[in-house]
Amino acid sequence: MFRLAVFVSGRGSNLKAILDAISIKYLNVEISAVFADKRECGAVDLAANHNIPVYFVSKIFKENYILLEQASDVLINLKIDLVVLAGFLKKIPDNLVDHFTNKIINIHPALLPSFGGEGMYGMNVHRSVFNASCKVSGASVHFVDKVYDNGKIIAQSCVDITDVKSPEEIAARVLEVEHKLLPFVIKKISENKITIVDNRVFILN
Ligand code: GRF
Repeated sequence: MFRLAVFVSGRGSNLKAILDAISIKYLNVEISAVFADKRECGAVDLAANHNIPVYFVSKIFKENYILLEQASDVLINLKIDLVVLAGFLKKIPDNLVDHFTNKIINIHPALLPSFGGEGMYGMNVHRSVFNASCKVSGASVHFVDKVYDNGKIIAQSCVDITDVKSPEEIAARVLEVEHKLLPFVIKKISENKITIVDNRVFILN
């Protein structure tokens, strides 16, 4: 079975979208572990409710936390095939990127390469999109490299935001497409249907 590790920091709606996709057999994968940088968050509760082992990670030494720099050892031991960042806010250390090149993906709630980079997470993204008076926004799933939100884009979904009255409305519309896009990309990767040719990512049918 194709083995996922899902990294989380928040409410866990994308983790839930993956779990739902597994339960309806859209995805033929297993979530072998969840990695979280905080103990109290919706995503950790969700993982616990599904009996998924949770590992707590930190950039600095903390009791009962694994150093993020050492997470690659755990991931290798668990024979993880793909690392999914689903709302994980810490930067992935270079050694992990080196070990798992093109095996770490992230979902970002905007159309990259716009509205990405350090500090561009959660409502900060949607507020910036709103204040720029954008007419479309969307979600991007990309490979993770050593720079925030910079890796090759695998897939994107757009939403029309011409008529929105608030950043919250943008967030709600984008979240809806995130929950379809992330399972779709995981499915394609797990079926070995993603190729990179001349620096562009292609998804095979
Ligand atoms: C999502 O909007 C995702 O795109 C971003 O962080 C948010 C996480 O939401 N990276 P959730 O915890 O999956 O509900």
